[in-house]
Amino acid sequence: MIGIGLIGAGDMALGHCRALLQAGHERALVAVADINEQRAAALQSTARIRLAAHTDYRDLLARADIDAVFIATPNHLHREHACAAFAAGKHVFLEKPMALTLTECDAILAAAAEADRVLQIGLVYRYSPLFREMERLIRSGRIGVPVMAWCHEFRVPFPVGRDREWRYSQALSGGALVEKSCHHFDLFQWLLDAVPVRVHAIGGQTAVRRDGAVKPGVPTEPYELGPGAVNDIIDHAWVNVEYDNATKGNLGLSLFTAGRSMPVGVLGTGGWIEACVPRKLLRVHDGRAGCIEELEPLRKAHEPADVGHTGGTRQVKAFLEAIEAGATPFADGQVGRASILAGLAAELSIRRQRVVEVDELELAAAAPVMAAASG
Ligand SMILES: NC(=O)c1ccc[n+]([C@@H]2O[C@H](COP(=O)([O-])OP(=O)(O)OC[C@H]3O[C@@H](n4cnc5c(N)ncnc54)[C@H](O)[C@@H]3O)[C@@H](O)[C@H]2O)c1
Repeated sequence: MIGIGLIGAGDMALGHCRALLQAGHERALVAVADINEQRAAALQSTARIRLAAHTDYRDLLARADIDAVFIATPNHLHREHACAAFAAGKHVFLEKPMALTLTECDAILAAAAEADRVLQIGLVYRYSPLFREMERLIRSGRIGVPVMAWCHEFRVPFPVGRDREWRYSQALSGGALVEKSCHHFDLFQWLLDAVPVRVHAIGGQTAVRRDGAVKPGVPTEPYELGPGAVNDIIDHAWVNVEYDNATKGNLGLSLFTAGRSMPVGVLGTGGWIEACVPRKLLRVHDGRAGCIEELEPLRKAHEPADVGHTGGTRQVKAFLEAIEAGATPFADGQVGRASILAGLAAELSIRRQRVVEVDELELAAAAPVMAAASG
């Protein structure tokens, strides 16, 4: 049996814990580490499980009864926690975004290779039957040749309270287009089978402001940052991405909007397909039938619903299966690294007010390597 530890005991760790319990791995769960003892205690009582609790993650990593860890800490800690876990010989499930920079991603990839352990990134939609069916239909030619993809995530503000304000800090989260939109840029890259080459983005901070001058109109989600918390992230953006195979992506993000779903679509030369995540259905218009067909792939799956996002339980099962089989996960480290490219470029594009070539980021990441090679 694979012994499992949780590093970070916040909202996402609770989701992984519930997914592991749903998948029947209760006995495999051994320990949790969080600097905040209350959150570790709350996770155990909410999930109704007893675990050994550590306040220093290094004590958890030193345990011989743990083979694999789920890292769900704030983004700026991902590199440190993942590299330490590999140095301790553990397999790693690392939450998205993989890290804040390409250089940090490369350090994690090198540590995983050196340790020869499994690395899976929490790009949960890759394990969703909804998006897998969407990808299958696109590959089958149902909408012709894919040309453009879109996603409009018009959502409520990020959660606050219980020390969750780190998402509002550009330095700790990487900004909204890295922290949140890496999921959707990853979907574009997967569905279009493409690599981003050029990004133009516009955006700013209008409603979800540090001074609270304009409160977002979302009654269910109070927005009040704790004392000393920073809010220097954008709260709305349009991002246009050009890919290496001439396809294009458009992402819209808002952090001050309630009551909207998150449509993700692809337009092809012979029709279009759009996923409606809350209703777990795909709408297809292939031009031939001339009408919209609604498909429900989850009905066909005949399995209990995933915990959390669609794909939540399946991604956890897939990680454990990859360890047992010695296989490379579908959402591996390279996929994780690629998933932050467009978001990094978009954050830069907004701040510099210009088009950003993805190669600029790659060259900057390679600079220390090139300097070492020439020295
Ligand atoms: N895949 C998804 O859909 C999804 C959804 C939500 C969050 N996430 C990701 O999961 C990660 C965690 O997000 P969250 O919502 O659970 O945040 P959170 O703020 O609820 O939890 C983070 C936890 O990490 C703990 N922590 C901070 N520093 C630590 C340290 N040095 N050692 C141990 N624990 C430490 C905090 O005390 C807190 O309990 C982030 O990377 C986030 O982007 C992914």
